[in-house]
Amino acid sequence: MSDSVQTPRKILITSALPYANGPIHLGHLVEYIQTDIWSRFQKMRGHTCTYVCADDAHGTPIMLRAQAEGITPEALIAKSSEDHQADFAGFNVQFDHYHSTNSEENRTLAEHIYLRLKDKGYISRKTISQYYDPEKEMFLPDRFVKGTCPKCKTEDQYGDNCEACGATYSPTDLINPKSAVSGATPIEKDTDHLFFELNQFEDMLKSWTREGHLQTQIANKLDEWLESGLRGWDISRDAPYFGFEIPGETGKYFYVWLDAPIGYMSSFKALCDKSDLNFDEYWQEDSTTELYHFIGKDIINFHALFWPAMLSGSNYRTPTAIFAHGFLTVDGQKMSKSRGTFIMAKTYLEHLNPEYLRYYYAAKLTSRIDDIDLNLEDFAQRVNSDLVGKVVNIASRSAGFVMKKFDGKLNDQWSPEMAALYQSFTDKSEEIAALYEGRDYGHAMREIMALADKANEYIAEAAPWVLAKTEGKEAELHECVSVSLNLFRVLMSYLTPVLPITAEKSNAFLNLDNCHWDDIQTPLMGHSINKFKALLTRLEMAPIEKMVEASASSLGKGSTAPDGKKGDKKAAKQSKQVKAESSTSDAPEFDALAEEISIDDFAKIDLRIAKIVNAEAVPEAKKLLKLTLDIGFEQRQVFAGIKSAYEPEELIGKLTVMVANLAPRKMRFGMSEGMVLAAGPGGSDLYILSPDEGSKPGMRVK
Ligand code: MSP
Ligand code: ZN
Repeated sequence: MSDSVQTPRKILITSALPYANGPIHLGHLVEYIQTDIWSRFQKMRGHTCTYVCADDAHGTPIMLRAQAEGITPEALIAKSSEDHQADFAGFNVQFDHYHSTNSEENRTLAEHIYLRLKDKGYISRKTISQYYDPEKEMFLPDRFVKGTCPKCKTEDQYGDNCEACGATYSPTDLINPKSAVSGATPIEKDTDHLFFELNQFEDMLKSWTREGHLQTQIANKLDEWLESGLRGWDISRDAPYFGFEIPGETGKYFYVWLDAPIGYMSSFKALCDKSDLNFDEYWQEDSTTELYHFIGKDIINFHALFWPAMLSGSNYRTPTAIFAHGFLTVDGQKMSKSRGTFIMAKTYLEHLNPEYLRYYYAAKLTSRIDDIDLNLEDFAQRVNSDLVGKVVNIASRSAGFVMKKFDGKLNDQWSPEMAALYQSFTDKSEEIAALYEGRDYGHAMREIMALADKANEYIAEAAPWVLAKTEGKEAELHECVSVSLNLFRVLMSYLTPVLPITAEKSNAFLNLDNCHWDDIQTPLMGHSINKFKALLTRLEMAPIEKMVEASASSLGKGSTAPDGKKGDKKAAKQSKQVKAESSTSDAPEFDALAEEISIDDFAKIDLRIAKIVNAEAVPEAKKLLKLTLDIGFEQRQVFAGIKSAYEPEELIGKLTVMVANLAPRKMRFGMSEGMVLAAGPGGSDLYILSPDEGSKPGMRVK
C-alpha cells in the first residue's frame, strides 16, 4: 500500500493572482498548468488538496485603464474575472475556488492584518517626496513618469530604469520628465506614506529563507538582499487609487501588493464559508497543514520576504514552500506581439486542443526556475510522437480486436510473463509519483514515455495482427490485446494529472470511474470495455501557423497597460535584445549548463553587434571562414569554424554578435581578433546568432 493511503495530508495550494487589466496568455499558463497538474496529482493520491486563486484587482494601472475605457473599475474587473475564468476553464485548470482581491473577505483580512502589524509596532510613517501630475491631480508611480535617461540620454524612458543603458534611478533623476498619464510636467510634492518595517524581520527572514522553504537558486539570490540590509516597505498610496482605504487614515489606500497575497487567504476564506473546510486549521500559527505558493520568478521578493514577514508579524502561519518557475519564451525569444508569439489563451483555444499544451509544458517543466521555451515545431513533433504515436496508438491497435473478436471483453488469465510485464509497469508507480511531487514533470514524462516504448515493443513483437490471421491463436491474441490495453490504462493513469480530458475519454472507453493513483495495482481482468473513439488527433502545423497569424493580427487589441513591470513597449524592446542567457531545457540533446558565473564575470565579456562586411573561405582550412567584421568604430578579422554550415556569400551583409574583447590569437592564416557566436552541435548544424533589426554595428550586447 502506498504512503498516500496511510497518511492523508491537508494541502492548500495557490497560483499567483493574475492582474485584472490584461488577458491570460501562454506565459501565464505555464504557472496555472504547473499548479493544476500538482493539484490533480495530490487529489489522485487521496490527499485533501485545495487549489485557490483570484483576480488581482487593485492598483493604478487598473484605475487608469477603466478611465480610458470610460467604465468603472468595478465593471472592468468583473469583465476580466469572467474572461480569466473562461480561459482557465478552457485549459481545464480546476480551481476549488476563484475569488477577487476586491472582495469583502479581502478587505476584512487586509484591515485585520494591517491593524495587528500596527499594534505590534511594525508600521511607521515617513514623509517622502514624489512626482505629482498637476493636471490629473494624482501622484505618479515610477512607471508613469517618462523622460530622458540621466546617464546615456536616451529619450522616452520610464521613471525607474533605462532600457537602453540599463541604469536604475529614481523618477526625479530623469531629464525633462513628463507624466505618462497626461503629458504634463510633473511637480515634486511631499506626502506621508506608511511603511512596513521589514528590517525588524531580518533575523526571522535570515533563518526562514534557509529552512528548506525555498529552491536553492532563490535562497542564494535572497542572500544578496538580506546581506545588504532590509529597508521599510512602502505600503500606502494616496488618493485617487483603486483599492482599500487604510483604516484610521484619510485618502490613503493599501498598495496593491499589500492586499494581493492576502487574496490567497480570502479566496480560501470564501471557500470555507461554503464548505466544511476550516479556515483557522489552515492559517493559524501552529497549523499542521501544508501551504504552497506557485509563482513566477519575477515576484519572488513579494512571496519569499514581504509575505512571510507579514504573516509572522500578524501571528499567522508561514508558507511550507514557495515554488517558483521560469519565464516562457516562444521559439527562443520573449513573447512578441509583432512576431505573433504573444499568444492569448483565448486565441490558442480557438485553434488548438488544450491537452497538447498541457503535455508540452509538463514535458519541459522541472523543479528549477530556468526559463522554458515553447518551440512551435518541436511542440507539434513532441505531441505527435509521444501522445499520438506512442500512447494513444496502443489503445487504437488493440481495441478493434477486443470488440470484434471477443465481444468487448478482456481475458481473465495471464501467463507469468504477461503478469511480470504488467508489474514492471506498476512498479514504476512510486518513482513517477515522487517526480510529480518534486515538480520534476519533465522527468516524469520521460519515464512514462519509456514505458510507452516498452509497450509498443511488446506489441510489435507479439504482432496481434498476425495472430488474428492464424488458426488456433485465439487465446494468445486475446491475452495480447488484453495486456496491451492494461498497459495503456497504466500509462493513462500516470498521465491523468497532465491530460485530464484525454484521461476522462480513456476512462469512458475502458469503462472505468475516475481513478485513484493506486487503482492500477489491480489489473482489469474479464472486464468489459466500450467502443474506442479517437482520444487525440495529430497536431498539424497549419492550425499552429493560423494561431500565430491570428495573434499577430490582433496586435493592439486587448493589450496590457503598463503594469509596473511589463509594459508593451518594454516587452517589444526586450524582444529585440539578443538573449545572452542560455535558455535551458532538460532534454538530453542539449549541452549541460556551464558553471554559474556572477554578473561581474558576465560584464567582463564585451559582446558587440557586428556587421559581416566580407567573408571568404580559407582554402587551407577545412572548417574556417575568414570574416571581416564591422563593429562601428573599427573593423576586425576573425576566423570562424563555420565553413560547413554557410557559404561565404550568404553571410556578407548580415548582422551577428561577436566577443570583441577576446585576446587576439595568432593562427596559421593570420590573427583572429575576436569570436562570433553560433549555436548548435557543429558541422552543418550550426547557426550564427543574428540580432533583430534596429540593432547597429558596435552596439554593446548586455
Ligand atoms: N498580480 C501579480 C501577482 C500577485 S500574487 C499575490 C502578478 N500578476 S501577473 O498577471 O503579472 O502574473 C501572474 C503570474 O503569471 C505570475 O506568477 C507571473 O510570474 C506569471 N507569468 C506572467 N508572464 C509569464 C511568462 N511569460 N512566463 C511564465 N510566467 C509568467 O504578477
Ligand atoms: Zn540610459
